[in-house]
Amino acid sequence: MDKVVLAYSGGLDTSVAIKWIPEKYGMEVIALTVDLGSEHDLESIREKALTIGAAKAIVVDGKQMFVDHFVFPALKAGAIYEGAYPLATALGRPLISYLLVKTARAEGAKAVAHGSTGKGNDQVRFDVSVAALAPDLKVIAPVREWAAEMTRDKEIEYAQQHGIPVPVTAETPFSIDVNLWGRSCEAGVLEDPWTEPPEEAYGWTVPPTQAPDEPAYVTIEFDRGIPVALDGERLDGVTLITRLNDLAGQHGVGRIDHLENRLVGIKSREVYEAPAAVTLHAAHQALEKMTLSKDQMRTKAWVAQQIADIIYNGLWFSANHQDLRAYVESTQRYVTGKVRVKLLKGNCTVVGVDSPHSLYQKHLATYDTGDQFDHTAALGFIKLWGLPLQTQARVQMLPQGEEPLSLPSVKADG
Ligand code: ARG
Repeated sequence: MDKVVLAYSGGLDTSVAIKWIPEKYGMEVIALTVDLGSEHDLESIREKALTIGAAKAIVVDGKQMFVDHFVFPALKAGAIYEGAYPLATALGRPLISYLLVKTARAEGAKAVAHGSTGKGNDQVRFDVSVAALAPDLKVIAPVREWAAEMTRDKEIEYAQQHGIPVPVTAETPFSIDVNLWGRSCEAGVLEDPWTEPPEEAYGWTVPPTQAPDEPAYVTIEFDRGIPVALDGERLDGVTLITRLNDLAGQHGVGRIDHLENRLVGIKSREVYEAPAAVTLHAAHQALEKMTLSKDQMRTKAWVAQQIADIIYNGLWFSANHQDLRAYVESTQRYVTGKVRVKLLKGNCTVVGVDSPHSLYQKHLATYDTGDQFDHTAALGFIKLWGLPLQTQARVQMLPQGEEPLSLPSVKADG
């Protein structure tokens, strides 16, 4: 029997898929559950896969790989989709794809499978990533395939007929995806953009109004763009992110209500929680302000947007991404130092920045004694800076009585 490696979350869709794939394709299912910080009991998910009928069930701890090879590179890039979404779900998909392919190779499988629907971005990310890494592997997407016939009721009926445990507790009205970098929540009442997200939509953060009145301060240390310590304590990336999610979440930091443009042409409303991501991006940006030149900052902002789109649109494994990554790496050479952040009632504010490579020079900036800025040089500089404007005004605009920007014209004779 041919084998297929299924990305298994333990939810209803992928549980049904464990039965449905052998029925439809005559293939043997190997369930692969990747731990990216999902907070679930993964051993019981593994056992559930076997109970339902998977030939084999594997759990892989992908947390460190996720942080080192996906999250921190995205942080260094400053990748935030449409100025709002730190891309948690989008960053997890290429890693899950990679592990699907790796497992397929190890097990001699002919195909991989995932539980994404036909309306979202995730199907694109899985399909495109697998095609890039292993063009010979078939990709099966049961939920996308059965969309026409399998309604929610039918799915539950199918599950009951096949002895697949259906969650007895009233299921959350939302569709939720969680990993270390953030929590994504959509559907249900969130589909009405006029409706304020209800508290039940949130799982990681306290409402800012109920957060402590006293702020928390935390100092984040960066080494070439990578956060390495909190309040002087050196931490591995997974621990550092976990702690920050906790701390910033307690202060209501990291709630993002976003109406976003999906790759498949739909606008959708998603509520994210990303306390660590929001805090780390703010701190990292502040350190870049101090250590990058004006031109570097401007170029990098453009690259950041390109990389955010690449990640969102499922093109993680593209050569274009690789090229831009090399640029980002180069920009981070001096992004070393520490940033002090204040967390208070939903706000994350940078209140202090320090770097051994700071381009902020007090003796140039100060208005006090110790000023070493050459004031006389300003005069000549301004003269040349304004020369093209002066020339154009004299030769073209003033003789024609042209009104620049529709202001009343300045008469040469007063
Ligand atoms: N809109 C986000 C993205 O495309 C998150 C999707 C995650 N799914 C969910 N069930 N909320 O990356």
